[in-house]
Amino acid sequence: MVAFGERFSALLKPGTVLFLHGDLGMGKTTLCRGILRGAGHQGAVKSPTYTLVEPYELSRGRFYHFDLYRLGDPEELEYLGIRDYLDESSISLIEWPEKGAGILPSADIELNIRAQGTGRVLTWHTNTEKGEQLADNLTELLLT
Ligand SMILES: Nc1ncnc2c1ncn2[C@@H]1O[C@H](COP(=O)(O)OP(=O)(O)O)[C@@H](O)[C@H]1O
Ligand SMILES: [Mg+2]
Repeated sequence: MVAFGERFSALLKPGTVLFLHGDLGMGKTTLCRGILRGAGHQGAVKSPTYTLVEPYELSRGRFYHFDLYRLGDPEELEYLGIRDYLDESSISLIEWPEKGAGILPSADIELNIRAQGTGRVLTWHTNTEKGEQLADNLTELLLT
């Protein structure tokens, strides 16, 4: 998952919003760790379960890693200033987007992770042209 994230990272363009779906322990944070490493982050990637969001200023851009698992109410995203985070120059990786339903803007691409034996199966769908472009590049990446 880390290795995949590192390769996938190179495809992410500024302004991309990515949702990560999947049960607890499926590897959403692990995938984010790979994406952030791929973008040049060298330290640890802690799960922002309590802080809700962790910012990363990297050579490859500004990333925000969200984990909304502990969000009590989607309205709390307004107090967090969610719209200021999801701007055109940043890349947002959002775990548990379901918790922000109604307030959270839609994603360009949504990845879903589920278990298959000891492995993981990744599926995705897109909501925007930017997401579609990303999915095309992802398919190409997986074929090479
Ligand atoms: N192929 C895999 N991809 C990701 N995680 C895996 C895989 N196989 C086992 N794991 C384990 O599953 C757990 C995933 O945890 P985490 O990334 O925090 O999940 P989530 O953020 O979805 O709750 C880790 O303990 C990791 O070691
Ligand atoms: Mg997690």
